[in-house]
Amino acid sequence: MDSLPLQSIEYGHLLPAAHGLLNEHAKQTKAHLIATGAAMEALAKRFGGDAPTWKVAGMLHDLDWDHLEKDWEQHCGSTLEGMLRSINAPAELLADIRAHYASMYGEKYPLDTMLRKCLYCVDELTGFIIAVTLVRPSKKIADVEVKSVTKKMKDKAFAAQVDREQITKCEELLGIPLEEFIGMTLQAMKTVAGELGL
Ligand SMILES: [Fe+2]
Repeated sequence: MDSLPLQSIEYGHLLPAAHGLLNEHAKQTKAHLIATGAAMEALAKRFGGDAPTWKVAGMLHDLDWDHLEKDWEQHCGSTLEGMLRSINAPAELLADIRAHYASMYGEKYPLDTMLRKCLYCVDELTGFIIAVTLVRPSKKIADVEVKSVTKKMKDKAFAAQVDREQITKCEELLGIPLEEFIGMTLQAMKTVAGELGL
């Protein structure tokens, strides 16, 4: 694991443009993308990766989703490619994003950098934490604790579409114990609570 590169190349200069794309294209998915950007920034700091680069990948990884009418076949395809081309993003950003959709793109874009592994594991977790927040009486992320999240993870009927295995893979793929992974992601999301509207 230690021998893996942190990221393919750095593209943190795209951060202002990434915010622009988010405002332009993300609607229902916006909170998930902001949350994932913040979590990826925290993970970059933990592993020594380039934080702005990791944040950009997190912020843009589902940028096409609100345009696709739940068509999974098209996810990370030509729509996303066009959006990224509009900000002159390098091919490596599209490749990093495609890698998170492992069931579709895993062969061509394997989880061969720490950035890619982190994005793969944290993607389902940020969505899950938002779901946990929304069932709190206050609907405030400040009131969510690690144990609220672990408890709900065991409840298979809750947010059933979330792939728990992808989250728990943090132990094997990243070497981070599950509770610690949840704790650092939750903490990162709390720092952007205002932007998340939670
Ligand atoms: Fe996602």
